[in-house]
Amino acid sequence: MIKKLSLVLLSSIVVLFSLSSLSEETVSEGEIMFEALGCWGCHGQAGYSTDEKYPVLAGRNADWIVQQLEDFQSGKRVNPMMNAMAPMAEGFERVIAEYLASQELPDGSCHNPEINTCQ
Ligand code: HEC
Repeated sequence: MIKKLSLVLLSSIVVLFSLSSLSEETVSEGEIMFEALGCWGCHGQAGYSTDEKYPVLAGRNADWIVQQLEDFQSGKRVNPMMNAMAPMAEGFERVIAEYLASQELPDGSCHNPEINTCQ
């Protein structure tokens, strides 16, 4: 009886572990793509840009980031750098956006409202 119970416990722990590594994978896939595509080169590590020419992406709303990427892809939003970069993120918009949205929104990240639409 005790053996059976510990077996049940053990298997639920295994299930819990695989579930948590699943959600971790989604987050780290976004992180991997953000780094592999070189987004961080302009937007800073984890989206914490320190250069006011490049908008802070950390802590922005995920849906909004996806929308911006789609608008850059379609040309609805015009910026030569992003019109070149956004197509490379095709298929990974959501994981990248969720990775960025999971970061803490830094104080004063709307320092350049002309570039950074700050939503
Ligand atoms: C060569 C520099 C550069 C690279 C690399 C780059 N970006 Fe950008 N990104 C910009 C600039 C500049 C803007 C502001 C564009 C504007 O003024 O409309 C911007 C804007 C954005 C915005 C909208 C932010 C806002 O506040 O309006 C998102 C989202 C974004 N980039 C995501 C990405 C992602 C994802 C990648 C990687 C696939 C990436 N960027 C790579 C320069 C870059």
